[in-house]
Amino acid sequence: MTTYTAINLSKRPTGGAITADLFSVVSKEIPSLADGDVLVKQHHMSLDPAMFGWMSPDTNSYIAPVALGDVMRSSGIGEVVASQHPDFTVGERVMGMMGWQEYYLSNGQGLNKVSAPLSDEAVLSVFALPGLTATQGLFNIGKPQTGETIIVTGAAGSVGSIVGQLAKAEGLHVIGVVGSAEKADWIVNELGFDAAINYKSDDLDKQLALHAPNGIDLYFENTGGPIQNFIFERMNAHGRIVVCGLIADYDKQVPTPGPSWLNIIKRRLTIQGFTMPDHFHEVPALLEKLTPYVLAGKIKHRTHVLNGLTAAIEGLNLFYTGENKGKLIVKL
Ligand SMILES: NC(=O)c1ccc[n+]([C@@H]2O[C@H](COP(=O)([O-])OP(=O)(O)OC[C@H]3O[C@@H](n4cnc5c(N)ncnc54)[C@H](OP(=O)(O)O)[C@@H]3O)[C@@H](O)[C@H]2O)c1
Repeated sequence: MTTYTAINLSKRPTGGAITADLFSVVSKEIPSLADGDVLVKQHHMSLDPAMFGWMSPDTNSYIAPVALGDVMRSSGIGEVVASQHPDFTVGERVMGMMGWQEYYLSNGQGLNKVSAPLSDEAVLSVFALPGLTATQGLFNIGKPQTGETIIVTGAAGSVGSIVGQLAKAEGLHVIGVVGSAEKADWIVNELGFDAAINYKSDDLDKQLALHAPNGIDLYFENTGGPIQNFIFERMNAHGRIVVCGLIADYDKQVPTPGPSWLNIIKRRLTIQGFTMPDHFHEVPALLEKLTPYVLAGKIKHRTHVLNGLTAAIEGLNLFYTGENKGKLIVKL
């Protein structure tokens, strides 16, 4: 084969579902290598809600948007198929920001070798962005204490499910917020959360009162949405709110107004947002923190695999509908 397929971003979303007309599927020549180049055949790529931000025109964010006409940004795992780089050998397994394409030409920068004896799916689901984000957000920002009550939104998602399991392993009372009965059942009966609340059900405040009778010390926010106000009202003094994601607002032109700041004073709350690119230099320390929990069998995960590069396009909508059951991955 001398050509391969790539997907370029050609238009920016303006709200609502992601549609094929936002992208161009193009055929490219497999490049020949210059000195210092590495060619990778990508096997699995990660889909992430962050992609909604990367497609937006917002230049005042933690990372520049994908330029129109460029390959859509994503991380993935593949195999070195040709190398003129002294540090990379044909057959090695590598990970990096390879984008929505079957082959990736690199000068080696940002390409990391993957030596762990784990499937690509397991690496992308636990040791890549989801696990790193959960570890950074929970431990370094949330500062959990045994006996405290934590609530995690997006609790059956790839980040939220790991946050809840880490918190449980640390001896916290863990409540997960999810959007379906199936996900509620999974986090409680498979992952060991203490309770689940379906944010699409009624009486959210009563359910919070039932499951968090002593209030909430730690709130790991992945979604936003109407339950946010009820949780905010139940925060305890010196509570911490870790703002990781707000997917309920990603397709809105005008974000939902947040709660009043009064409780921040009255309850002496700490609210902190974070994004992982600020912490990529801390990855070795984060992996050192996360790995023992995984080795001790405390972290279960599930993956939702789509087949073929072009499945990525409409696959992104599964994040909005909640139909992704676990880490969303495209198998090439
Ligand atoms: N700060 C960072 O560096 C960082 C890094 C990674 C991820 N994140 C953020 O963390 C969050 C979770 O990411 P993930 O990769 O683990 O995705 P995920 O949770 O596996 O998938 C997204 C989930 O969000 C839920 N959702 C969608 N629309 C919603 C709405 N309107 N209200 C409430 N829930 C809604 C759906 O679950 P239900 O079926 O339960 O509704 C969906 O399955 C995202 O907001 C993402 O942007 C941030």
